[in-house]
Order: sequence, then C-alpha cells, then structure tokens
Amino acid sequence: MPIVDERPRRTFAVISHPDAGKSTLTEALALHAEALHEAGAVHGKGNRKATVSDWMEMEKARGISITSAALQFEYDGHVVNLVDTPGHADFSEDTYRVLSAVDSAVMLVDAAKGLEPQTLKLFQVCAHRGIPVVTVINKWDRPGLDPFELMDGIEQQIGLRPTPLTWPVGVAGDFHGVLDRRTGELVSYTRTAGGATRAPEERIPAGRAADVVGELWDEACEGHELLSADGADHDQAAYLAGKTTPVLFASALLNFGVSHILRVLIDLAPGPGPGQGVDGRSREVDDDFSAFVFKVQSGMDAAHRDRLAYARVCSGVFERGMAVTHAATGRPFSTKYAQVVFGRERSSVEQAFPGDIVGLVNANALRVGDTIYAGTSIEYPPIESFAPEHFATATVADAGRWKQFRKGIDQLDQEGVVQVLRSELRGEHAPVLAAVGPMQFEVVAARMESEYRAPVRLEPLGFTVARGVDPDQADEVAALRDVEVLARRDGTRLALFPDRWRAEAIERLHPHLRLAQLPASGR
Ligand code: G4P
Repeated sequence: MPIVDERPRRTFAVISHPDAGKSTLTEALALHAEALHEAGAVHGKGNRKATVSDWMEMEKARGISITSAALQFEYDGHVVNLVDTPGHADFSEDTYRVLSAVDSAVMLVDAAKGLEPQTLKLFQVCAHRGIPVVTVINKWDRPGLDPFELMDGIEQQIGLRPTPLTWPVGVAGDFHGVLDRRTGELVSYTRTAGGATRAPEERIPAGRAADVVGELWDEACEGHELLSADGADHDQAAYLAGKTTPVLFASALLNFGVSHILRVLIDLAPGPGPGQGVDGRSREVDDDFSAFVFKVQSGMDAAHRDRLAYARVCSGVFERGMAVTHAATGRPFSTKYAQVVFGRERSSVEQAFPGDIVGLVNANALRVGDTIYAGTSIEYPPIESFAPEHFATATVADAGRWKQFRKGIDQLDQEGVVQVLRSELRGEHAPVLAAVGPMQFEVVAARMESEYRAPVRLEPLGFTVARGVDPDQADEVAALRDVEVLARRDGTRLALFPDRWRAEAIERLHPHLRLAQLPASGR
C-alpha cells in the first residue's frame, strides 16, 4: 500500500563564492531541522572509510540523511532538499547542471566582500533558468560593508532589486539582531559559545525594542523607512518572476538568522511546479512518475565501482522496484534492484516525491539530461551545455594504454565531466577537451590516472571563445585564420576563437556566416 507523503517540498541550492560560508550555513540549516526518519529513509551506517566530504561527516555526526547530491531534512512539516553544488575544487559545468534540479536558490554573500565572481556566474545561471533567488548577507558578526552599499552592489551588478526582509540592528561586526520588516519586531540574537547550538533568539515588539538595543533600534527603523520609501519592500510576484531578491542578514557561524532563512524558504520559495516536455506538453506534479537525470557519477566509493545517476523527481511517485521507461532509448529501466543512496552507504528508500532526489545505482544507460518515466510518455528538454572557455588537447602518456584512454575519455564525456571535441584533422588520438572552468581538466587528469590507469598529457590551446556553427558552413569557417572547427558528441559543430574580439571581427566581416552564441556561463 503506497504511503502518500503530503509534506510539501522545497528544493533549493546555495550559490556562493568559495569561503562565503556555504558549508557553515549548510551545517547550521541542518542543526535547525529534524533528520528525516520517516518515508522509508534508512540512514547509512557503518564505519567503513570512504571519500570524506563535509556532508558525510555531518551525516555520521547527526544521523541526517544525505546523498552525495542532496541533503534532505524536515522543517515545520515540510521536506527540504538542499541540493549540493560542487565546492571550490571542481567548480565547473557540473554546478550549472545541478541548478537545473532546484526550484529556488539562496545566494550567499560575504558581508565584507559583496558579490564575488563565482557568485555572479552562478547567479547568471539562475537568471537564465528563471530560478528565484533569496539573498543572504552572511558574516554580519564581522566588520563588513555598509548594508546600503551591499544593496546597491546587488542591484548594479546583477540587476535584481533587493527587497530586504530583515534589516540589521547594529553595523557589520556589531550584530545585535534584525528588524523583521514583515512584522516590525526586533529579533534579538544572543551569542552562545561558538554558536554550537541553536542560537537563542527572542522576538521583541517594536515598542520595547529600544529598551533592549537602545538607539541602534532607531537607526534600524530609519533604514527600514528609507527602504520602504524607495519601494524596496517584498513583492512575492516580483520575487517569483526573478525581478527582485528578498534579502536576509545572518551569521551562519553564530547561528544568527538561520531559522529565518528556513522560514523564508518555507513561506516564500516555490515548491515543485509542472514541467514541460520537448514536445511542449506539460506534466503536472501529480501526473504519472517522471524524473530527469542531472548528474552522473562513477567510482564514488571504492567499494562500489559503478555508475550512479542522480535524478530529480518531477512528477508522480517514485517507488523502488517500479518499472520505468528510459525516454532516450524507449527501453525499460528497472528500478527493482536499484537502490537509493544515502551518504556513502547505499540503502533503500521506498518512495520519493516531486522535488526529491534519488540516486540510481547501476544506471549505466542513463546520461545527464535523460528522462525516465512511468505511464504516459514524457521527455524533458536536454540540459544545456554552457559555452566552454578553456580548451586543451588530451593525449595518452603511455601508448600501451590507448584503449583505456579512449574508454576513459568517452566515459568522462558521457558523464559531462568535460566536453570532448573531435575533428578529422586532429584524429582520434588527440581529442580537444573543452571546459567551462579549468578545474574540470584537473578532474579529468586525476580520474584518467586513478580509474582508467591511463595518465593523460594535457596541452592548453589558445582559444577562449566558442560559437555554434552551421554544419553547411563548417568548412568555410574552418578555413579562416585563427579559427578551428570541431564537433561535439551530440553532433554540434563548434568554432573556436582566440578571443571575443576575433569572433566579433569575423562576424562583422562575414555577416553571412551563422555563428550562434552558446548559453554563456555568465559574464
Ligand atoms: P564555503 O563552504 O563557502 O567555502 O565556506 P565555509 O563554510 O567553509 O566558511 C569559510 C570560512 O568562513 C570559515 O572560516 C568559516 O568558519 C567562516 N565563516 C562562515 N560563516 C561565517 C560567519 O557567519 N561569520 C564568521 N565570522 N565567519 C564565518 P575558516 O577560518 O576558513 O575555517 P574554520 O577554521 O573556521 O573552519
């Protein structure tokens, strides 16, 4: 008898520049929430050594169910799925793809630094995908910028209108609490040793606030009024439309303002909505089961050397053992033996609902962007590949390992670790690897050596810009000076240029050439 889980879902990701406090915030959010014990979730057990990530450590410490792709917890009758965006080391296209699995994002900004390059890039992806963004100004317990300056920075650099939901009481470095602009109350924060537990916070009516924080209250009220006069009040429709970003002030380290972030996600962030197939048909969340794969990973744990596909449930109910169809091939995909992954241990989850992330084991046929479904057919549009900006040729270091080299490169291409570009000119032996971030090359080099025992030599190429080329014009474009044309696995032809100026000059000089801009990774 299927258990129907009525708890609404909130599926989101935190986007931030390294060091803004993403790990600290993730841990703080989990502290405020309840581990999921229901819905058939079985927590990973055992003490086998495995790849250690912060989240896995947290899982051990707190018994919270964590896949290596998503942290799931309950808060106030809701199930919250916090989808992990890869951290510093392998920041890449992977991050962009992960954002296709969420309904909203939290943009974490360091109060002292304002918007930083990686945050900007990730924000552009959210904007491109129409993902609503809540902004959290973190580290308010440390000296930082003026709050109005931060608001101006957001508006000018990303064009989103900030609509603060809270306003700090006390400058950065002197954090007493916030004025809750929705209720007019003072939320006062008290430091605990190291912020190790839920920080005591007290809601104090406006009339008594000045007794607690003195003239700082008047300053906060002044700020609040200035914002209102400027029209910077929350507007739910504008937030959902990606025109405004509600802002909160917090200190993840001291646990200040963290419960407020959860409250805002529950109250304002969108839950899963209907999806649309390539043929334009829409699929409501309560239709038959469907999900799409946003991440494929292999060799995560030395004890389980197979491929894992992470899929986001888009509609219906996933039940372990159900027969589903793999839309790309039309073949059945059996989930009978497939398990769901929690942390580094594999255990089963009997059911999953729209917004949830399931990890499918032994999913060798599944690729990033693929759809699986039950009942009425559906195929979701492929996840766009972003314009690569870094290029290098790959050759096998030891000619005796050529077969393994070819297999490894193909596999990494399929997983989407890098894009592999080929041309007759370069031949099979020296494919060009194309990446959005240079770290992708390091991942390729490390995995080729450890998993395929086929160390590679990577030679950077002097290109930084790629444009799509009409196959009919490929030869003409390839004959131009400084330009090279290669093909991607999906057949798309890409023309590579040394820089934007050269690409634009060619577009001007040869207006009949159809050079398509690829989705930018944001700049
Ligand atoms: P990341 O995942 O975004 O890269 O950031 P992470 O959470 O690792 O935080 C980066 C640094 O910033 C850490 O300090 C962390 O303690 C600190 N930090 C995070 N949130 C806050 C905050 O609200 N206030 C203050 N004052 N600091 C914060 P670290 O010295 O690099 O590491 P650690 O030795 O403290 O762990």
